[in-house]
Amino acid sequence: SANLPLKGRKVMITAGPTYEAIDPVRFIGNHSSGKMGYELAAAAYRSGAEVILISGPTHLENPHKEIKLVRVQSAQEMYEAAIAHYDEVDAAIAAAAVSDYRPKNIASQKIKKADENLQMELERTPDILASLGANKKRQALVGFALETENEQENALGKLERKNLDFIVLNSLNDKGAGFKSETNKISILFKDGRKADFGLKSKKEVAEDIINELILLLNE
Ligand code: C5P
Repeated sequence: SANLPLKGRKVMITAGPTYEAIDPVRFIGNHSSGKMGYELAAAAYRSGAEVILISGPTHLENPHKEIKLVRVQSAQEMYEAAIAHYDEVDAAIAAAAVSDYRPKNIASQKIKKADENLQMELERTPDILASLGANKKRQALVGFALETENEQENALGKLERKNLDFIVLNSLNDKGAGFKSETNKISILFKDGRKADFGLKSKKEVAEDIINELILLLNE
C-alpha cells in the first residue's frame, strides 16, 4: 500500500562501531554512535518492513520491539550475523563503521606496561558489505562512504567494487554532518551515474530520504 510501501519486505541494516579485542580489557574501536543505522531501521519499520538490525556496541535502545536487534562486538561477529540473515532479506544497508583492522593475536591476559614502545600486529577484518555484494542474488544493496579526498571518485569505485545499487556519501565538508552529530548531509550516487544531493537534515529525515530511494529501487 502507499502507506506501508515496504510491507512484505525484509530489510537488514548494520549499525554502530565494532570493537576489536586487544586483551581482556582493551579494544580498538571508533566514535560511531550508531544513530544513522538505528534511524534507518526505524524508518524502514515505519514503512512496513520486517527489520533485522545488526548492531555493534552502542548506547541506543531498540527503536521498536518488533525490530529484530542482533547485538555483536567484533567485525567477525557482525560478518557472521549478516551472512546468516542475508538469504532471507530483500535489501541490506551497511551503515556500520566496521574496524578495518584487528589485532592479529588477542592477549589472554591484560598486557602489562613495560618498555617505552609497544608493537602490535594488525590484520584486516572481513569486508562485510563486499561479501554481501559478491553473494548478491535478488537483494538491493546500499553502502555508505565517508571520504576525505576525491569523494565522488572513491565513492563510485566503492559502488562498483562492492556491487552496490547505490551509495550514500557523507559530506565531511559541512558543519553538522558526520559521526556523533544529530544531523547529516548526504549525496546519493547510483550505479547508473545519477547523483542526488540532499540538504542538512536531522538523521531521522536523512534516514527517510534513504529509505524512500530504497522503496523506488525495490519497486523498479
Ligand atoms: O571501504 P569502506 O570501509 O570505506 O566502505 C564503507 C562501506 O562498507 C560502509 O557501508 C560500511 O558499512 C561497509 N563496510 C563493511 N565491512 C567492512 C568495512 C566497511 O560492511 N569491513
